[in-house]
Amino acid sequence: MRIVSGIQPTGNLHLGNYLGAIRNWVRMQDDAAAQGGECLFFLADLHAISMPHVPAELTANTRAMTAALVACGIDPDRSTLFNQARVPAHAEMQWLLNGTARLGWLNRMTQFKDKSGKKRESASAALYTYPVLQAADVLLYQATHVPVGEDQKQHLELARDIAQKFNNDYASPEAPVFTLPEAIIPPGAARIMSLRDGSAKMSKSDPSDMSRINLTDDADTMIQKVRKARTDPDVLPSEAARLEGRAEARNLVGIYAALADMSVDAVLADFAGQGFGAFKPALGELLVEKLAPINARFVALKDDHQLLDAILDKGAEKARALARPTLDATYAVLGLCR
Ligand code: TYM
Repeated sequence: MRIVSGIQPTGNLHLGNYLGAIRNWVRMQDDAAAQGGECLFFLADLHAISMPHVPAELTANTRAMTAALVACGIDPDRSTLFNQARVPAHAEMQWLLNGTARLGWLNRMTQFKDKSGKKRESASAALYTYPVLQAADVLLYQATHVPVGEDQKQHLELARDIAQKFNNDYASPEAPVFTLPEAIIPPGAARIMSLRDGSAKMSKSDPSDMSRINLTDDADTMIQKVRKARTDPDVLPSEAARLEGRAEARNLVGIYAALADMSVDAVLADFAGQGFGAFKPALGELLVEKLAPINARFVALKDDHQLLDAILDKGAEKARALARPTLDATYAVLGLCR
């Protein structure tokens, strides 16, 4: 069992990242320890330069995101925690895989279409080849499981396609170079939506901070954001199926269920017949109960640059060693003389 996943160090860690991915990273870290598996978690700083960015902010966000991940429960002694830029094998492997990735496959990536929008001609080449770097990130370490939110599913499928084609083209069936990774997507929290618009996912890039709960928000801010979240005037129904067509209501109930580790039906059994005037304070309280301890750990860590840099240094050293055998094998089967 080899668990690998990453997050872009752009902006704050938000509730969507936490429920969609990071909480699973922490759970899988514990499972892996019990089963003798290995976990690698990284800040995808190389991915972050695919969009316009402010260099000093990227540096600060890389440290802040490291502090946030440790605050969430990623243990740098048990998991390898690092940033991509310190492990050149990621960029090297991307180039090696560019020979296998097909333009037709990249053309189908919905994230490129969403992020490039109407200005496709001026999008960066990095934004277009971004999914190949993501494939490199996981194939480099022979990942078996990749815990991510729903929006990364298509990228993981591409990584499998690249691995399969590369193995077919350059390796014998008895000695494949790459393991096919499996995406691990949490059933209840795969897609947490914006608090302002139930049809848009909660995202770091939404200009409105009111659209998301940041793990760095203090208790009052969280409660206020929930209070102001968009809803509808109807009461809550008694079963999940009857939330159909009520995107905002479904999102808030889904967040409650995920945080409380309950099913949506069980949450509705407690709140059926009540309006959001009653539900929102309960959700705010639950958010504070679950996230305040993370926030406190984050605040204690965030300015200790020496400690954060030492964590990333140690993680990068481990990652470079773990990447080496697969990188060497990839160069070798391609016939590249070194
Ligand atoms: P990123 O930085 O956008 O998000 C990090 C993780 O959070 C999940 N996520 C969500 N889950 C549920 N609801 C939401 N609203 C929500 N928003 C974000 C994402 O699915 C992701 O798991 N390309 C990746 C980073 C990456 C990566 C990798 C991931 C680079 N290389 C290799 C896995 C393996 C990204 O931009 O995630």
